[in-house]
Amino acid sequence: MSAKKATPPAKKDTLEVRVRRIHRRDLNRVWEFLKLVFRDVNRETVEYQRPRSKRRFLEVYTSEWIEQLVYEVEGQIVGYSECAFEASGDDNWVNPRWFEKRGMRPLFVEELAVHPGYQGRGVGGFIMEQLQHLARTRGCTHLVLEVAENNDSALSWYRARNFYKLDAAIFLAQKVPGEPDLLPPRELKPRPAQAAKGPGPSAGLMPEEVSGPALVRKPRAARKTTTPARKPATAARKKARPAR
Ligand SMILES: CC(C)(COP(=O)(O)OP(=O)(O)OC[C@H]1O[C@@H](n2cnc3c(N)ncnc32)[C@H](O)[C@@H]1OP(=O)(O)O)[C@@H](O)C(=O)NCCC(=O)NCCS
Repeated sequence: MSAKKATPPAKKDTLEVRVRRIHRRDLNRVWEFLKLVFRDVNRETVEYQRPRSKRRFLEVYTSEWIEQLVYEVEGQIVGYSECAFEASGDDNWVNPRWFEKRGMRPLFVEELAVHPGYQGRGVGGFIMEQLQHLARTRGCTHLVLEVAENNDSALSWYRARNFYKLDAAIFLAQKVPGEPDLLPPRELKPRPAQAAKGPGPSAGLMPEEVSGPALVRKPRAARKTTTPARKPATAARKKARPAR
């Protein structure tokens, strides 16, 4: 009896995501990655924009309290997480005592991002598990993060993972009834010559103060020469203004 040769099962075309610590050489790539991920999110949020600034991002790399992890699929960065074991930095939004009073030891998730082309494929879930794992191994009791209230997609994603709302700032606005800075046009008084004879608005003035030229605009060139000091000052101010 000849045994039929078993055909090996077709190799599944699977991809895997790997996590590693960030390296200095990744910094520029990760910065560009974050700008791409948050481009659409930023358009809709009043909050500070993510990522905050390249200067801050580069500073984070040198902080020993912050763990930056990069997630790759076949060498391409598809995810990034940044978490801090202490509320640190002068632009921090949390009050550490709030957590102390409640017996919480938070792991602050400062950034969590998945490449738009890889969202919905489990990368975010893997990052979340990695963060929970870090929290456990470092003795933290909670993951704490900030998300814009109108980032509906991320918010519902977090809620589906049992995140709940802490006491946090809400952006409020009040409409101030508007008034233009400049007054509306005003009708001029008639020229004194046409005014009714007798004491009028020009009464008591010297003839040169009453006559027309005071109301007539000087030609441009003439005005330029009469106010020489203003131009250079304006030009200097413009030069001093930083480029946007
Ligand atoms: C939010 C984000 C991190 C999620 O990452 P992701 O890789 O897309 O998430 P996953 O693929 O791991 O999650 C998929 C799961 O979540 C579910 N899911 C997807 N979008 C969801 C949503 N908006 N609400 C609830 N559940 C959602 C899917 O059904 C799937 O469920 P399953 O695991 O039971 O199959 C990612 O979309 C992202 O980076 N967004 C832009 C940046 C951002 O807003 N970051 C948060 C700033 S604080």
